[in-house]
Amino acid sequence: MLTEQQKMEALVDLSMELHQVKDIDILMENILTWARNFAAADAGSIYLKDGNRLKFSYTQNETLQRRLHPGEKLIYSTFEIPVDRTSIAGYVASSGEQLHIADTENMDPALPFRFNRAFDEASGYWTQSLLTTPLKTSRGDVVGILQIINCRTAEGRKIPFPPDTERFMAVFAGMAAIALERAKMMREMILRTIRMAEMRDPKETGAHVNRVAGYAIEIYESWAKKNGVADTDINRNRDILRMAAMLHDIGKVAIADAILKKPGKLTEEEYEIMKRHTILGARLFSDKSSDFDDAAAEVALNHHNRWDGKGYPGHVDPENETPLPGHKGPDGHPLGKSGMEIPLYGRITAIADIFDALSSRRSYKEPWTEEQCLKTMEENRGTIFDPELIDHFFQCLPSIRQIQQRYREEDSP
Ligand code: C2E
Ligand code: SIN
Ligand code: SIN
Ligand code: FE
Ligand code: FE
Repeated sequence: MLTEQQKMEALVDLSMELHQVKDIDILMENILTWARNFAAADAGSIYLKDGNRLKFSYTQNETLQRRLHPGEKLIYSTFEIPVDRTSIAGYVASSGEQLHIADTENMDPALPFRFNRAFDEASGYWTQSLLTTPLKTSRGDVVGILQIINCRTAEGRKIPFPPDTERFMAVFAGMAAIALERAKMMREMILRTIRMAEMRDPKETGAHVNRVAGYAIEIYESWAKKNGVADTDINRNRDILRMAAMLHDIGKVAIADAILKKPGKLTEEEYEIMKRHTILGARLFSDKSSDFDDAAAEVALNHHNRWDGKGYPGHVDPENETPLPGHKGPDGHPLGKSGMEIPLYGRITAIADIFDALSSRRSYKEPWTEEQCLKTMEENRGTIFDPELIDHFFQCLPSIRQIQQRYREEDSP
């Protein structure tokens, strides 16, 4: 249990954190981790509001997590419920009021909702105390709800949430709501940028970039943990990589529709033009100097380099598209970048992008079966792909499949 003083300090830390741009998926993870630490809660979930629906968007559960192998992630599926008074989450979202249920087995029968035991039954978990707080901005807009489950004593006994936790959660949720709103705007801005430029079919684009970004950070996290990167650095880098990976193909805005949307195979000339999307993308971020701009430029420039050096655009200066000093090949073109010459985020995004391209429909190809995709990924270990990172890709498969489900084409915004 945290002391009152520690809780205040944590709130101050959070408000500082709020002033940084965050990706929404990573933000939800941070919010729930903080909330559970605050409240000594075993589990929790976040539902985000989308019109008159509430979408179960993120969850943590320490007890269920402990039953998994170390490093394995809790698999959950997203679902939606209406914003109305028939469920606990719906009630809180529609009333805008916090709701504490001390014991789900002893609820006032006069309440308009009942506790839905279906999730417990499916997971073999027992929900006893349940504190549900609206994620409500100072303007009174409800962005979603924050639910924390099973307050525990130091000995692990399940107890109701104490009154001071209710108050803290209300303040905390207000701050979290603002951060979520901002992150949502950031995500939408990125998606809108991509869509406005009409890179390709708008339906495909939102889902594709979300999947590539999702796969990329799974691979990064697995790699970073294995290589002893500090948790605070992992958290920060994931946030940056997620947004950078969403923008990996942003350079395609400059490629003509006749090439981009061509229903068949590209000619050699067309393909040469298409390849410039790497350089053009990198240029968009070159005059900025934040870590995010650096990462976005790195990803855009390097996601088509291959481990064996046969990819593109190699050792090129994106500003003038000429070989970097000392890297001019005999034909006058830049020499290929290979192995560790290719920056990490580029090597990671190559894996994420190609896996998604293979498993998706394109104007020029049908989707491949998972078996075919995985075979190609494995076969290109050490040719296209960094062998160490491809091992992490395979270790992350359960999470990668989950992301694939989560961002199906029809779900794209
Ligand atoms: P993309 O569709 O996002 O594909 C990204 C990368 O996935 C490709 O990079 C390639 O490495 C891999 N990939 C995609 N489809 C296949 C496939 O059927 N077989 C194999 N072995 N690998 C595949 P690449 O080739 O450098 O292409 C970059 C981008 O150029 C593609 O992005 C796509 O927008 C465009 N493109 C490539 N080939 C064609 C084509 O034949 N027709 C059209 N219309 N566009 C193409
Ligand atoms: C609900 O809030 O009614 C659904 C989720 C839960 O019961 O934990
Ligand atoms: C090419 O490699 O020449 C075109 C891209 C592809 O179809 O894979
Ligand atoms: Fe690309
Ligand atoms: Fe792509």
